[in-house]
Amino acid sequence: MPPGAGRYLRQLALQSAAVLAVVSLAWPYYGVRGEALPWPPTAFAIGVVAALLAVLSRQAWWWWLIHLVFAPLTWSVARLAIDPGWFLLLFIALLLVYRGALNGQVPLYLSNTPTVRALVELTEDIPALRLVDLGAGVGTVVRVLARARPDGRLTGVENAPASWLIGRLRTARLTNCRWIWGNLWQTNLAAFDVAYAFLSPAPMAALWEKAKREMQPGSLLISNSFPIPGVEATRVFAVADGRQTQLYCYRL
Ligand SMILES: C[S@@+](CC[C@H](N)C(=O)[O-])C[C@H]1O[C@@H](n2cnc3c(N)ncnc32)[C@H](O)[C@@H]1O
Repeated sequence: MPPGAGRYLRQLALQSAAVLAVVSLAWPYYGVRGEALPWPPTAFAIGVVAALLAVLSRQAWWWWLIHLVFAPLTWSVARLAIDPGWFLLLFIALLLVYRGALNGQVPLYLSNTPTVRALVELTEDIPALRLVDLGAGVGTVVRVLARARPDGRLTGVENAPASWLIGRLRTARLTNCRWIWGNLWQTNLAAFDVAYAFLSPAPMAALWEKAKREMQPGSLLISNSFPIPGVEATRVFAVADGRQTQLYCYRL
């Protein structure tokens, strides 16, 4: 089972329990009266019961909302009689971009321009910079750094096929840029002065363990927005942007 899958199975179990509870009461009730099951109120009742179960089992608040609207929305969309092939197509398209969210809780969102500028500034006194962007998205960071640092060697590692392809095209002409389709957890960090990560809170502790194992003393791990739990950053760089980005810098 992929890591984190248990969390989603729990939600599936919760929604299934609500369906079972409501349908097993409603079906006999309407059956005895000789009436067909009225789907709109049934779907609504399933939503309410599922949301209640989510509250009682202390799921995060966004799961309450998802459970509340899931059955009513499913019923409404089913009425549109859309060819199931379109759903499959949409699922595949999302998978090509959001693969990282499925098994590692790391979706795609991009570092903004002020943050990339700050990275240029933070690394400007490292001669012949060797930097890796772990989960490099569409190449936003390595592209700018490769241009700013012709003496450097920039590497991007990305595992979502569509993002990787876009990044590949965007970095194709940059001779000091290596663009890899791969898993960041299988990328050895020993050869890099700086590892940059813009991931999520979930993998930060494991990333720190990996950095400690593999990176050379004196090298730098920079995390956009997500600090490493229980580890004091060597420096926190506040980016002057609208979302008040913090770059957490850890000297190995
Ligand atoms: C938040 S985005 C950051 C993109 C880019 N670094 C930036 O700052 O613009 C995180 C990226 O990590 C990728 N990712 C998640 N898990 C990964 C893994 N195990 N190996 C490689 N890439 C991964 C996701 O597909 C996503 O594109």
